[in-house]
Amino acid sequence: MKVPQLDLRTQYQSLKNEILPKIEEHFANQSFILGPTVDHFEKSMAEYLGVPDCVGLASGSEALRVALAMFDVGPGDEVLLPSFTFFATAGAVIHAGATPVFVDVDEDFLMDITDAAQLITAKTRVILPVHLYGRQLPWRAWRELADAHGLRLLEDAAQSVGSRDDMGRSGALGDLAAFSFFPTKNLGGAGDGGLLSGLDPELLARARLFRNHGAQQRYYHSEVGINGRLDALQAAVLQVKLGHIDEWNRQRRARAARYNQLIDEAGLASHVTCPRLPRGEEHVFHQYTLRVGNRDPLLTRLHENEIGAAIYYPVPLHRQECFKELPSAQRSLPVTERLTEEVLSLPIYPELTDEQQVFVVDVIREFFAD
Ligand SMILES: Cc1ncc(COP(=O)(O)O)c(C=O)c1O
Repeated sequence: MKVPQLDLRTQYQSLKNEILPKIEEHFANQSFILGPTVDHFEKSMAEYLGVPDCVGLASGSEALRVALAMFDVGPGDEVLLPSFTFFATAGAVIHAGATPVFVDVDEDFLMDITDAAQLITAKTRVILPVHLYGRQLPWRAWRELADAHGLRLLEDAAQSVGSRDDMGRSGALGDLAAFSFFPTKNLGGAGDGGLLSGLDPELLARARLFRNHGAQQRYYHSEVGINGRLDALQAAVLQVKLGHIDEWNRQRRARAARYNQLIDEAGLASHVTCPRLPRGEEHVFHQYTLRVGNRDPLLTRLHENEIGAAIYYPVPLHRQECFKELPSAQRSLPVTERLTEEVLSLPIYPELTDEQQVFVVDVIREFFAD
């Protein structure tokens, strides 16, 4: 039995009849840049997230870059972010001309608030935590920390469309929040796409101009912006998929609970640590990530059995070649460094069958029984 890392072909088959007529419409009208489809998707996302406005952008990386520009972050400024995340979180800070300050994570893979608090200096401008793997950050504590020091909060919500706690959904918590619609994300487009949301309508209104070369009216520029727009074709695809996101997230949570149950029943608790399952809708399981002492041989065994397991992320940012001169890269981040050796993500998506999950856990059980 094969268990691919993702099964987007099956998802497409179920959505084809909804998506193709929308695409056709755009070709018939030759309408590809901004326009009503992008407006409609932005409004739908704002309603879904519970925020005043959203701005569609070309990618999650651009969303982070635009957010930092809206905070007027630049040379001499420091931005706190986890070392245990995808590269783009830090790349955006460098592109803003500012300095990333790498923070350790906790045992739930999320940026460690105690470590972050100790790293705040007079130069710190922004706190940029990540809802990693789709797990919602404990937001109240982050808001209090930011407010106590007069800092901006930027959510990296690239992996967490739909996660929610008693304060609201990810994307409705920070001053601004960046989403990614990269095809493999839980809300994925047919190519690159991203979005900025947040609680400050003025910043979002400025971002709307900034993504379009800073022009309110064509050829009249109030500031130097970029070409960072979300394509109308992407907005059309994403609008269809948004209608399914709550059900897909529910199925992801159910698959995660099932893995935890199967692993427990197989008596594997002394070999692997399962992710904690928060109550309610907090976690959307963009990834289902185990911690395993003897990880690499197990990964090989899973691959030999055609199971698409993967490692997010094998090298922490503070150990990347391109960041080696940064002051905060000289520090050791013990939890991050341990996790990069231990994490192992199993296939998780709504289309994953129970048979496939049983097979995956059987292969893990046999590996440890050898
Ligand atoms: C945590 C995180 N931040 C930022 C990004 C960047 O998003 P994109 O690939 O859409 O530029 C991604 C995804 O790729 C991500 O996982």
